[in-house]
Amino acid sequence: MPILEREPPKGRRESYVLPKVPVPPLKQTLDMYLSCMKHLVKEEQYQKTKAIVVKFGEPGGTGELLQKKLLERSDKTYNWVYDYWLEDMYLNQRLALPVNSNPAMVFPKQNFKDRKDSLRFAAHLITGVLEYKERIDTRVLPVDFARGQLAGTPLCMKQYYRLFNTYRLPGHKRDTLVIHKPGSTEQEYIIVACKNQFFVLDLVVNKKKLKEMDILTQLEKIVKMAENSEERQPPFGLLTSDGRTEWAQAREVLIKDSVNRESLAVIEKCLCVLCLDNPSGMEVGDTSRALLMLHGGGHEKMGANRWYDKPMQFIVGEDGVCGTVCEHSPFEGIVLVACTEYLMKFMTGSPSKMGRATSVSELPTPARLLWKTTPHIQGLLKASAERLQRLVRDLDMDVHKFEVYGKEFIKKQKMSPDAYIQVALQLAFYRCNGRLVSTYESASIRRFHEGRVDNIRSATSEALAFVKAMTDQKASLSDSEKMKRLWDAINAQTNYTITAITGLGIDNHLLGLREIAQELKMEMPEIFTDETYVASNQFILSTSQVPTTVEMFCCYGPVVPNGYGCCYNPQSDHLLFSVTSFHGSTETCSAVFIKALDEGLVEMRDLCRKSNKPQSSAAPAASKVAENNQGAGSKLPSTLPKTGK
Ligand code: COA
Repeated sequence: MPILEREPPKGRRESYVLPKVPVPPLKQTLDMYLSCMKHLVKEEQYQKTKAIVVKFGEPGGTGELLQKKLLERSDKTYNWVYDYWLEDMYLNQRLALPVNSNPAMVFPKQNFKDRKDSLRFAAHLITGVLEYKERIDTRVLPVDFARGQLAGTPLCMKQYYRLFNTYRLPGHKRDTLVIHKPGSTEQEYIIVACKNQFFVLDLVVNKKKLKEMDILTQLEKIVKMAENSEERQPPFGLLTSDGRTEWAQAREVLIKDSVNRESLAVIEKCLCVLCLDNPSGMEVGDTSRALLMLHGGGHEKMGANRWYDKPMQFIVGEDGVCGTVCEHSPFEGIVLVACTEYLMKFMTGSPSKMGRATSVSELPTPARLLWKTTPHIQGLLKASAERLQRLVRDLDMDVHKFEVYGKEFIKKQKMSPDAYIQVALQLAFYRCNGRLVSTYESASIRRFHEGRVDNIRSATSEALAFVKAMTDQKASLSDSEKMKRLWDAINAQTNYTITAITGLGIDNHLLGLREIAQELKMEMPEIFTDETYVASNQFILSTSQVPTTVEMFCCYGPVVPNGYGCCYNPQSDHLLFSVTSFHGSTETCSAVFIKALDEGLVEMRDLCRKSNKPQSSAAPAASKVAENNQGAGSKLPSTLPKTGK
């Protein structure tokens, strides 16, 4: 049986045996797939899809063969979906990392008196990072437990162990997630980016760990060195902002030279990148801070002062704009929140130790990374800069605080806040576009060994019935009918959530069946080439709940050109939304979406208020799904607490 945290220190704490991600029953997935897509495609297309799906699932058919192979794979591996999912979700994707893939966490705006003040903050932050990393290395991080739906089960901690020792290496067709084993790098160091230059800040000198004061001293030296225009190097970080194939091709040119090869190797093995940004000159509101985190404002601002392949990249701007931008493939936003909340609490809770003596009397000068350039490489940098600029111009972002009510009001209605917000997002989309579309909501499957996420398909038929009731002037349904439809939509959403978090979602399963077919070198089954399947994977609405307990918020870009990215952070008395879309699409506009969302949330509250009391509770419906799932022969997360090994 897989053991969580393979070798926890003796007696420190409990370890838990986590179950494997189940392989859902084939028929259950195929039926769910049809009911998820029926109302999202034209009737004629649906009938065609239905015939294809029935044929795929018939006894002795292709579906059964692939399911058998998947079950065999599940027997042989710790997690049958992990590699398929990682490649499909991240490593095979060719789009540029900023905006399209890397999420950002925006810290509260800081009020720095001057540059030195911002460097003090940066030194304190890095001290916190080292303290957190020490907790990871000594394996004393407490195990997370599920909250909300099906609360109480322990969660897989593996993602924490990939925060500081991973790197996404670009490839021509597929990237690689490089994982450095603990102790595989000779020394601990971070890379500091300043004025598009990269410096190595060693954290251990003469076998002694640098204290905060030393780190500050080194940062001050770096800022000075970065100002020296004679030694200035070209902005090589720009290459990492490009499409993955373009960057892989450029990297191949770069590594022909040993100087470039060495600089790349140093960056690839660092713990994290610290970007010391100049003031951007932008107005410092939530939206502009979020933009600076996502793409740095392009090459003319801070866009080249980054290394986007590195999973943990901290940004400290002289103007108080701070946060992180992360390469997403090693971990989910929830793990990032846990880490950054720790850091924020460290920053405010533990006083800066600047007054203490330094640990090392003679600190070596930090090394500037050098690059060899040629006219060809200059051309590549220019092309990357232009493509980043296009991305910057195209991103339409709106960060909005809905202050009328928060999750406490929703809980009082005996509804799941997450389900309620998802239904509100469907209402907003319908209001803007007159239809519902394939929607992605990330559902954590960390209840399982090495679990990452599956998808909650929030565009349910019940949500469609509700949004129609709320928007169709002619139908003028009674409030009690609208309320009934709201409950149906909330229950359907809550039930889907439970299905997904218990490992029975359809997206991972269909992906597994498709990938197994590919491995068997079969002709691709029609179910996966069908128009409906293609539409089912075009996530025009890509959503995710990333709640925080300290003041900060997460954001990310849309995943398709005509789509929205919507990250939300439900708080007791307000709801925070970060909505993104592309100006290039005539179908989207973030401000219009936010306005529709605002209106819908107010209407939903009014509807709840008018209705005397809830007609049913989501909770009984939810537990029914859980029972059914067990009845279907699948395993709900059952965990056996074990004492420390
Ligand atoms: N009546 C009253 N309260 C209810 C309720 C009901 N019917 N249903 C739920 N609640 C309460 C819960 O008990 C919980 O209370 P808490 O705040 O005290 O913990 C709270 O409302 C929130 O529950 P809910 O809104 O149902 O959501 P959830 O916390 O279960 O989250 C998901 C649902 C899908 C977001 C979560 O399971 C998940 O997967 N999160 C990870 C998402 C992710 O990975 N994001 C990052 C991607 S990079």
